[in-house]
Amino acid sequence: MRGKFIVVEGLEGAGKSSVIGLIVKSLVAAGKRVEQTREPGGTPMAEAIRECVKHDWQETVSEETELLLMYAARVQLLTNKILPSLESGAWVVGDRHDLSSQAYQGGGRGVSQDTMSAISDIALKGFKPDLTLYLDVEPAVGLERARGRGELDRIEQAGLAFFERTRARYLELADNDDSIKVINAMQPMEDVHSDVVTVINQYLKVTAASSVSMG
Ligand SMILES: Nc1ncnc2c1ncn2[C@@H]1O[C@H](COP(=O)(O)OP(=O)(O)O)[C@@H](O)[C@H]1O
Ligand SMILES: [Mg+2]
Repeated sequence: MRGKFIVVEGLEGAGKSSVIGLIVKSLVAAGKRVEQTREPGGTPMAEAIRECVKHDWQETVSEETELLLMYAARVQLLTNKILPSLESGAWVVGDRHDLSSQAYQGGGRGVSQDTMSAISDIALKGFKPDLTLYLDVEPAVGLERARGRGELDRIEQAGLAFFERTRARYLELADNDDSIKVINAMQPMEDVHSDVVTVINQYLKVTAASSVSMG
């Protein structure tokens, strides 16, 4: 049976990495074969694009350049890793996916909705995660946590207002899509984790029930 694609989203420092570890553990405990991806990246070429995106170029990087690089990496990952894994029956847990572009490039950088939908349609042809957990934090909280990890890269240096716009777009998109669950990631980690386990267990229950009813 085809696997499911579960994505964890949120601003830097929201707690994605620790939550992903927890989700993988829960899925493995439920008997799933699990593979992990991160975006941008996850294939040799996509990782090279990741380095390119994160590099501190001594020139202006246009919004469209950043956008196209993100989607180039995403198509490589989707085609060469996510889809084959799902077909093989594995469950895939993603550290970011298309929602990040919608929020960062669409919300943060202000790329128009028309451009965002057009490029997303061309690149992904309607592909969409089965479940997304959006870890919601105020940008200042997330950045303070991320700062503890070391130097901030070019995207992280974009300023608080950029992240406020990004967060607002994340929340707006989550509000309009039942497959996106919002987790309050400003809580203590143990409370975040217990909310995540609740969402995952609920999802496992629903998918088990629907696979029984389909025979
Ligand atoms: N709910 C939380 N409360 C306090 N600190 C947290 C919480 N979640 C994560 N952290 C810490 O914040 C830092 C960034 O978390 P991380 O999982 O790397 O975030 P992300 O992957 O979303 O950038 C880590 O040091 C992590 O231990
Ligand atoms: Mg991380």
